[in-house]
Amino acid sequence: MKEIPNHIAIIMDGNGRWAKQRKKMRTTGHRQGVEALRAVLTKADELGINHLTVYAFSTENWARPKAEIKALMLLLLEYIKNESKALHKKNVRITTIGDLGSFDEKIQLEIAKAKELTKDNTGLNFNIALNYGGRDEIRRAVEKIVEQERKGNREGISVTEEEIERYLDTRDMPDPDLLIRTSGEMRLSNYLLWQMAYTELVFTETLWPDFTGEDLEKAIETYQNRDRRFGKI
Ligand code: FPP
Repeated sequence: MKEIPNHIAIIMDGNGRWAKQRKKMRTTGHRQGVEALRAVLTKADELGINHLTVYAFSTENWARPKAEIKALMLLLLEYIKNESKALHKKNVRITTIGDLGSFDEKIQLEIAKAKELTKDNTGLNFNIALNYGGRDEIRRAVEKIVEQERKGNREGISVTEEEIERYLDTRDMPDPDLLIRTSGEMRLSNYLLWQMAYTELVFTETLWPDFTGEDLEKAIETYQNRDRRFGKI
């Protein structure tokens, strides 16, 4: 049997274009994007994937029109509120990466509740990137190391990769094996920059709202046909 990726990261791109093609509001695309996410999560769980990290809101997404940001926040709140019990029943553990401090208190509270409810679950780790940017994450890690130095909890200027990793938002997770980006765009967009040093990248033309569990299986198949060498020969 071929190896199933332990950690899959996804850039759910193309909601806006999906809506535009149908002459609908961008928000409708995001709403349909949540449906796609639901199906992909179910499939990932069935396949026995251990970690699934999805890019729901980037540090750059704050530059979008206020109305779209508001709609995305509402969708997120709705999703967490409505879905966490069902995910808990499926033994899914909900975690987040990114700086939640910029979100509404109500959202922060719902997220904290969902994390607390599911924290001891041993099934799929569903990790949502919220106000996340790879550069910001590394910056925050450096800040924490400097703070430790200032407090006298560490000594010396030498910093190891392991030390940096201990301060990243993903500290308890393995690096992604596979990144999937939908909608034909071929870039990383500040996603998991540190963690994706040796991740296999799979790009598909499919717009995120059209992405299905079957598409996930196809991406995994593509991954399984790759020869991962991690810089060795
Ligand atoms: C990119 O498509 C998508 C986003 C910026 C948001 C992704 C959010 C969801 C799928 C739903 C919310 C998630 C949760 C967890 C509730 P785009 O808007 O950039 O599309 P475009 O490039 O076609 O304009």
